[in-house]
Amino acid sequence: MRVKDVLRRRIQIAKPVLGKKELEAVRKVFESGRLVQGEKVKLFEEKFAEYIGVQHAVAVANGTVALDVALKTIGLGFGDEVVTSAFSFIASSNCVLYQGAKPVFADIDRRTFNVDPLDVTEKITAKTKAIIPVHLFGQPADMDGLNEIAKDEGIAVVEDAAQSHGAEYKGRKTGSLGDVGCFSFYATKNMTTCEGGMITTNDSELAKSARLLRDHGQTEKYRHIVLGYNYRMTETSAAVGLVQLRKLDGLNRRRNENSSLLTEGIEKIAGLTPPHTNHDVRHVFYQYVIKVEEDYPIERNKLAEHLMEEGIDVAVHYPTPIYKQPLYKELGYEKTTCPTAEETCKRVLSLPVHPSVTEEDIRYILDVLGKVQ
Ligand SMILES: Cc1ncc(COP(=O)(O)O)c(C=O)c1O
Repeated sequence: MRVKDVLRRRIQIAKPVLGKKELEAVRKVFESGRLVQGEKVKLFEEKFAEYIGVQHAVAVANGTVALDVALKTIGLGFGDEVVTSAFSFIASSNCVLYQGAKPVFADIDRRTFNVDPLDVTEKITAKTKAIIPVHLFGQPADMDGLNEIAKDEGIAVVEDAAQSHGAEYKGRKTGSLGDVGCFSFYATKNMTTCEGGMITTNDSELAKSARLLRDHGQTEKYRHIVLGYNYRMTETSAAVGLVQLRKLDGLNRRRNENSSLLTEGIEKIAGLTPPHTNHDVRHVFYQYVIKVEEDYPIERNKLAEHLMEEGIDVAVHYPTPIYKQPLYKELGYEKTTCPTAEETCKRVLSLPVHPSVTEEDIRYILDVLGKVQ
């Protein structure tokens, strides 16, 4: 270890904020003896639905299966198409493959990194059954534009809200803006249950179907009416989730304070572009993603290496559009192109923004970024 690493702690890219309250909640579950899908899960669902502003929330094992179940509940099947963003985590489109359906990739807006409704329109065909907008890095997608397309086409909108707990679009929370919303409570997210997920909706039939699918298609013990799965949430996860939900607004406030300080400094550094926030949203900065432009003294990957050497953990979300992943090449997506997503993948760099990043950390990050020659 280098001397400066001993003198200065590393600044991590993500750090869950878990404390005594979560520990106490887990201890109580252990003592109760009921470990899976009991009272805590029920209460977490109620509180989460209330927070998001929807009638139903269905807790599941993680965000990937939330998407899987959501697509099953809208009846997606073999031969159908779903338009989604080329620039996201792979689960946003793999969930379509799970149904035997085909993901069709739309390009993104160069400033927000969210899917561009104009390109979505271009990608709609007679086979399109749904759109999956991703509220990427904590900023809501252009939901008015996307909902209008969906309404015109008579297709569903499944929000991938895995990165946007508490984010708002025109005063309404993500997860309440489409037909169904899907959340992840993975360890790095704005709130965590270690692993976990939630499906949100105002449609009671859809919620009923999601509840069946997550638990072996059972209407009562050992009476199975559809092909279901074991996608249940544990009581310990729900107990942690209840505490985290109470903390969420405060944690998001800290992310916003950190992002404001970062942006103030980054605006003054030539060659770096801070994230753009639309005027009609509340961004929750799951990630703080800058662009390293051509006129910055060194290129993105060199800058990432340099920051890591200086004790600042950074990440590239995401290094390649989904359709360029080996799996998708194998599936025949060689000819797909989304030029803005491709260019964005070369430039983006995520800096630490989580609630435990201090003002002093930010001054240090800006100092290192400003001194690069
Ligand atoms: C955009 C997006 N969608 C879906 C998921 C899947 O969530 P999980 O990791 O809980 O399965 C993630 C998680 O990392 C994500 O970032």
